[in-house]
Amino acid sequence: MKTGQTYLVTGAMGCIGSWVLHHLVQRGDKVVSFDLGDNRSRLDLLLNKDEQEKIQFTQGDIRDTSLMKSIFDEYGISRVIHLAALQVPFCKADPVLGAQVNVVGTVNVFEAARAANVSHIAYASSVAVFGPPSVYNASILNDSHLPDPHTLYGVYKVANEGTARIYWNDHGISSATVRPYTVYGVGRDQGLTSEPTKAMLAAAKGESYEIGFSGTMQFQLASDIARYFIACADTPFKGAGAFNIGTTPATVAEVLEMIKALRPDARVSGVENELPFPAGMDGSSLAAYLPDFKETTLAEGVKQTIEHFERVG
Ligand SMILES: NC(=O)c1ccc[n+]([C@@H]2O[C@H](COP(=O)([O-])OP(=O)(O)OC[C@H]3O[C@@H](n4cnc5c(N)ncnc54)[C@H](O)[C@@H]3O)[C@@H](O)[C@H]2O)c1
Repeated sequence: MKTGQTYLVTGAMGCIGSWVLHHLVQRGDKVVSFDLGDNRSRLDLLLNKDEQEKIQFTQGDIRDTSLMKSIFDEYGISRVIHLAALQVPFCKADPVLGAQVNVVGTVNVFEAARAANVSHIAYASSVAVFGPPSVYNASILNDSHLPDPHTLYGVYKVANEGTARIYWNDHGISSATVRPYTVYGVGRDQGLTSEPTKAMLAAAKGESYEIGFSGTMQFQLASDIARYFIACADTPFKGAGAFNIGTTPATVAEVLEMIKALRPDARVSGVENELPFPAGMDGSSLAAYLPDFKETTLAEGVKQTIEHFERVG
């Protein structure tokens, strides 16, 4: 359903950003893409050239405050989906750059929104705001479990949630974010938790692949996470909402079984190596905020992903 709004998507050339562009173009909305890079390899898997023509592509650094402000002015931005960030290993390798991109970059987006009188922002948080299960004495975390990040990336995400809260308190700019876990699907090609997707790609190509970790976690389809961020941008919220997602937890072994059930010749396997993350989250607050949202089941998401990889080669 077309909204008549103009969306700014930062980090739009990334995995989730490409899926956000895909959904916004499919429903006929005006969209401005903003990213440091101009590599459209992920987008090429999701939109053909004619569809990409409908997007206004801009390139720049989220750290540049005046550039951010000028993008809002020039394109008449009315809705914002802020995804640009450096992932866990990159923040670890260069903490200063990580803080500049992930923390200052987010402040820049809020400042630009404030200057342009945009009153609501959707942005990306992460399950990394939480610590390992030993911190909580619970395998499923709920709203009473407080963030306790054990990575710089997680610390920066907590800072962003705090920034969002202060912009609501000080300036009345509302916001909403979800905290994704293991995102999988076409376009998920980097980062530790991209390995289940790499196993699906290997199954599609007839190659072998071994996932380097095991355990129970929440697997979330990149397309669904993109729809969550669009819903966060489209749905008003009074305050700064930071939501856990209640996806049914599953094991890496179950994902491997699903791949083999779909492609019996698949040579995919995994090693026993539990990651220090909780099994999952309780999503009651998110369900109250977005009551009509339906997630794709894991079995259907794995099937769609393998078939999509087979189609695009
Ligand atoms: N993929 C996951 O499993 C996952 C899980 C939880 C949260 N998230 C969050 O969701 C968001 C999107 O994740 P993703 O998987 O699409 O990430 P990604 O790494 O695929 O994409 C991030 C994009 O940000 C861009 N970027 C980096 N530095 C920039 C800068 N200085 N200026 C402008 N753009 C810059 C990159 O070029 C890239 O295209 C991020 O905020 C991420 O932290 C992702």
